[in-house]
Amino acid sequence: MEPPLRYNKCKISRLAGQPPSMVEFPALTGTVACGTGLFAALTPADRGGTVARIEGTELEYVRQQQQPIIEVDNIVKTYKMGRIEVQALKGVTATIRKGEMLSIMGPSGSGKSTFMNVIGCLDKPTSGSYRLEGKEISKLSDNKLAEVRNQRIGFVFQSFNLLHRTSALANVELPMVYSGMKHRKDKAMEALERVGLGPRAKHRPNELSGGEQQRVAIARALVQKPAIILADEPTGNLDSKSSHEIMKIFEELNRTDGITIIVVTHEREIAEHTRRIIHFRDGLISNEETDIGKHKD
Ligand SMILES: Nc1ncnc2c1ncn2[C@@H]1O[C@H](COP(=O)(O)OP(=O)(O)O)[C@@H](O)[C@H]1O
Ligand SMILES: [Mg+2]
Repeated sequence: MEPPLRYNKCKISRLAGQPPSMVEFPALTGTVACGTGLFAALTPADRGGTVARIEGTELEYVRQQQQPIIEVDNIVKTYKMGRIEVQALKGVTATIRKGEMLSIMGPSGSGKSTFMNVIGCLDKPTSGSYRLEGKEISKLSDNKLAEVRNQRIGFVFQSFNLLHRTSALANVELPMVYSGMKHRKDKAMEALERVGLGPRAKHRPNELSGGEQQRVAIARALVQKPAIILADEPTGNLDSKSSHEIMKIFEELNRTDGITIIVVTHEREIAEHTRRIIHFRDGLISNEETDIGKHKD
């Protein structure tokens, strides 16, 4: 399966040993002639799937299949409530590739959050296989699972989940306190600056708008340099303007850092910030859309 990225056209004059062809690259506008610094224009996210090199004035381009980062196969998740069993996931199979940005939509109760919890290593599937960066996860001990989660995954939630009594800076520092990282203040400050909140670092959550609080939460997700950010209805409590600002931040992190980003949302307009939409219904993937048009305009 080809990575579902939307590319702008770019002409490559010679492909090693192959005839000239049109290849498409993201983050470029118009047709770019060979040897015009294309490599510099490629972002890390794109490099995840492509190798491009300029030799003299010739651009050599090799297409690589983008590596899967998340592979779930027939995942079932059953919750027991007394004698009653609820099957929240009924056999979900999906592949998500490194550097993708996609969204998950579906009615309430269709299993979206359960799916996010499983791929975020917050919860284990009842059955089925889950490979994260090629490693089987479903059999790991709880401690190992926590380790993988802390090192590889950043979470953003609808309700921000910030500590109210401490500053934005302290909130962002917190994951690093658990993981024993050094230079925490500097790193936290850097993450806050990244989301445009440097000047608000000393403020407490209740002194910030909803959109700003969510940006603090994104900074907190960022500090550990995750491979994946999972955002479960991150704009559910925000007005439309802040919602789009939040999505722009995700787009930027995806584009420049190559972070794989998965966003659950009810709103089509929010989902259209991503390139692919997976629809859930009744514990299963019911439908998928790729090549969503609005991205990178
Ligand atoms: N911890 C839990 N215990 C029991 N049932 C749960 C639990 N979490 C979710 N469920 C049930 O699993 C189904 C899917 O829930 P969820 O994944 O939260 O859906 P969504 O996020 O799409 O609204 C629902 O029927 C829900 O009631
Ligand atoms: Mg949910």
